[in-house]
Amino acid sequence: MNFFDANLETIAWFVYLFSAFLFIQGLRFMNSPRTARKGNFVSIVGMSIAVAMALFQSFYHGFLQISAIIVLLVGIAIGAAFGFVTAKKVKMTAMPQLVSIFNTVGGGAAALVAINDALFAHSIVLSTYITIILGIIIGSVTFTGSLIAAAKLQGIVSGSPIKVPAKKLIDLLCIVGIIFCSYMLISGNNFGYGIEFPVVLLTALALIMGITFVLPIGGADMPVVISILNACTGTAVAMAGFVINNLIMIVAGALVGAAGGILSKLMAEAMNRSLFNILAGGFGDTGKIDSAESGEALNLTETSADDVAVQMAYAARVIIVPGYGLAVAGAQHEIADLTKILESKGVEVIFAIHPVAGRMPGHMNVLLAEANVSYEKLIPLEDVNPMFPTAEVALVVGANDVTNPAARRQGTPISGMPILDVDAAKNVVVVKRGRGKGYAGIENELYGLPHTKMLYGDAKKAVASIISAIKEL
Ligand code: TAP
Repeated sequence: MNFFDANLETIAWFVYLFSAFLFIQGLRFMNSPRTARKGNFVSIVGMSIAVAMALFQSFYHGFLQISAIIVLLVGIAIGAAFGFVTAKKVKMTAMPQLVSIFNTVGGGAAALVAINDALFAHSIVLSTYITIILGIIIGSVTFTGSLIAAAKLQGIVSGSPIKVPAKKLIDLLCIVGIIFCSYMLISGNNFGYGIEFPVVLLTALALIMGITFVLPIGGADMPVVISILNACTGTAVAMAGFVINNLIMIVAGALVGAAGGILSKLMAEAMNRSLFNILAGGFGDTGKIDSAESGEALNLTETSADDVAVQMAYAARVIIVPGYGLAVAGAQHEIADLTKILESKGVEVIFAIHPVAGRMPGHMNVLLAEANVSYEKLIPLEDVNPMFPTAEVALVVGANDVTNPAARRQGTPISGMPILDVDAAKNVVVVKRGRGKGYAGIENELYGLPHTKMLYGDAKKAVASIISAIKEL
């Protein structure tokens, strides 16, 4: 017996442990935008080491025939090329659907591992059957759910909530069917149809549930759903790890599951929704109310780029409040230019970052990083709120709900949502195209305040016109 024969499992265990350490380090680096790239790189190294070790173990034990090796290598090459090209080419605003496609692939792969074991493994014990069944269910629900989520965000399927006829009945039948299939698998009583019958039926029912789960949810709510499905992907992978007794799959799956779960909870809290409410499907209906319900008709005052330029150029401190409209307009470079020109005039410029501004976690951070705005200038909600009273101008660019004082009152769709205290600034300028409402579908009381002025126009053009006006001062 040579060294490898005697010690391969122990070596593999240590290698996997090292990979797990790199994953955790990677996650830690992702805590801050400054170190996020390093975090990605460290995690990639961890994953590459783990994949190489798993391949080596399989080769060494002679588990793989030459045909299987070719299939594996071709699969890895196609997957890596697809991932590399799409991640490079994808626009920032299309990132949620890309993440959703990755969830589809992850969930589907985890389900396939579980299906393979259910069909071909011998002498399975009860606990393994439970992980196999959970792996098939969670993986399959994630597969179709994420596919629908991506299609909705991409506009291939309508983004508005789609009513599934007799949804409750379909869900009930699926749940009864899933329990029945689980009983057949665990008891080994397939009513003479063979093991394929419960496995195929279980997979089909879980695939249907993924569709009925996501179809009724509106497109704008998709980021939270994608985060929940991301957590499901991780959980399914961890289940698959238990099934094939692979330590690193359990660790990586658990990390993704926990991170996705925490992110979903944070997003739900920042939008003042409970995760239960989201999972129960009361979601997607944002409870939109008419402007009349939010109070008096607003008295809006218009301003011009020239006036805004004077206000800002002679201010000591300007706080820029970016929102979804900034992303839609792609005005991040103009905002960066505006920051530079104001700073050259001695104005202090900082950015107020709301955790759910835009449509995905960290949306504003990523957009502004794209235009090389320094991280030090991006101040999170709890730190920036006390600074608003000291700002001569708060420039709101395409942000709406995250600035709406209606959140401080009871009885509105955003009641209780933490908001940026923009109304506390000495002067407020709001850049938006017209009377369009935000995601919550309500009027913004900030716009009607006496010290708020509206600068109408597409954010990119409006900010460019402020820059030109400042240059002419
Ligand atoms: P919103 O409340 O959605 O408001 C965006 C505003 O931008 C609109 O009022 C719109 O008014 C304006 N706008 C659109 N296109 C524009 C353009 N080209 N130029 C200038 N303005 C433009 O945005 P927000 O304040 O960022 O709030 C985000 C909302 O999304 C919150 O309610 C949040 O709960 C929700 N949400 C967030 C997430 C995450 S994770 N970030 C996920 C799901 C939901 P006009 O049409 O008049 O221009």
